Amino acid sequence: MERHTGCAPVSTNGAVMHASSPEKCDIDVLDDGRSISDFIDQKIKELESQGSEEPFYVVSLDSVFQRHGRWLASLPRVKPFYAVKCNNTPAVLRMLSALGTGFDCASKREIQLALDLGATPDKIIYAHPTKPRSHIRYACAHGVNLMTFDSEDELLKIALCHAKAKLVLRIAVDDSESLFRLSPKFGARLATVGKLLERAGELGLEVTGVSFHVGSGCTASLAFKHAIEDARRVFDIANMYGVQMTLLDIGGGFSGREDFQVKFEEFSDVINGALDELFPPDSGVQIIAEPGRYYVESAFTLAANVIARRVVTDDVDEHSNGEENSHNRRMMYYLNDGVYGSLSCFLTDATCSEVQPYLHRAVESSERRYRSIIWGPTCDSIDKVMDNYWIPELYVGDWLLVDNMGAYSVSLSSDFNSFEKAHICPVVTAETWRASNLSHIYNIIC
Ligand SMILES: Cc1ncc(COP(=O)(O)O)c(C=O)c1O
Repeated sequence: MERHTGCAPVSTNGAVMHASSPEKCDIDVLDDGRSISDFIDQKIKELESQGSEEPFYVVSLDSVFQRHGRWLASLPRVKPFYAVKCNNTPAVLRMLSALGTGFDCASKREIQLALDLGATPDKIIYAHPTKPRSHIRYACAHGVNLMTFDSEDELLKIALCHAKAKLVLRIAVDDSESLFRLSPKFGARLATVGKLLERAGELGLEVTGVSFHVGSGCTASLAFKHAIEDARRVFDIANMYGVQMTLLDIGGGFSGREDFQVKFEEFSDVINGALDELFPPDSGVQIIAEPGRYYVESAFTLAANVIARRVVTDDVDEHSNGEENSHNRRMMYYLNDGVYGSLSCFLTDATCSEVQPYLHRAVESSERRYRSIIWGPTCDSIDKVMDNYWIPELYVGDWLLVDNMGAYSVSLSSDFNSFEKAHICPVVTAETWRASNLSHIYNIIC
């Protein structure tokens, strides 16, 4: 059995130390009348004049700003704790911190990132039900007390590493309507709740609330209603065990795409209705959420360059018959970003079926389209972005743009084959810049 080491605060005077003022991030402010596409045009020209074609993201901080306003208007009772795992770009985290969101952190490094931004520990939930002991001790040493658990073994670890933690019991809920399911891996079943509360009591641990996650990319608003009903049952069971819970965490799962099949407002209507019925404002229960995709998905557009191409005619390589103009010809293009970089969603993510790369340069509607395969740059044949994609003929040096690339892209990207990761260019319009008073967190670079 491990010995209790407790957690030592990082200061010598007993106060928990936090990061000093964080460094400013560089952003571009778009002059009145200049759009994101103007910025992309200019960036491409700049790169080409330097003889470079490296991929880049343009990040609309306006989009993040507006999404926050929409959240406050639609879910006024629910405080968002942004899920850092979804995209940890500093300019985005700085914007969210300035807007006053909390942070859902999954690891020591994410907690450190949030603290470095100036977030106070009460604005952080360590929302991973299975944590390394050293990360729990790190949370403890930095005053981060709110954390999730879903098993007896996790309770034992927390009792040893952070006995004063405020625990949130993650329950498994029906996530069958989501593009990414999480309940097979995490979440206690309702039948085990009584036993877990009893064990926490024996260990002297405080269980303060309940959390769930309906799965990422949820397509059915009723999933939230049913999950909130499940959470209500857990609150009632806890009452029977003499535990008064005061926190409900409704997790993430909301798409960030404007064209998603279910509008955010439909989710919020269902959530507000269920909360008002089962956790009314006078219940004294604080409601939080852990949105990831919602905030960032539509804010990022990727620009990748066509670095190579190959013509295939009737499954025979062009070099064997030279008939480049055959009607049957298929094309293969190789981009400088792929599934090992920004586009890993094409390998793992059902949401990517909605993602459609398009040409940066103007295309006539009459321009002929060819059945094409789009590959990433690495030596691996798994690195395939699109198959059977009908697109006008591309040439080496053309740029393809991909919208809605903000969720689980930057954070999943590797440098396999040592291809450069896409550079990140955050931009904000002059209007939002003036409205949001952000000069203390950003350096303007143009
Ligand atoms: C515990 C937890 N919270 C929040 C999120 C963010 O979910 P989403 O990006 O779907 O909002 C995730 C995603 O995996 C998660 O595991």
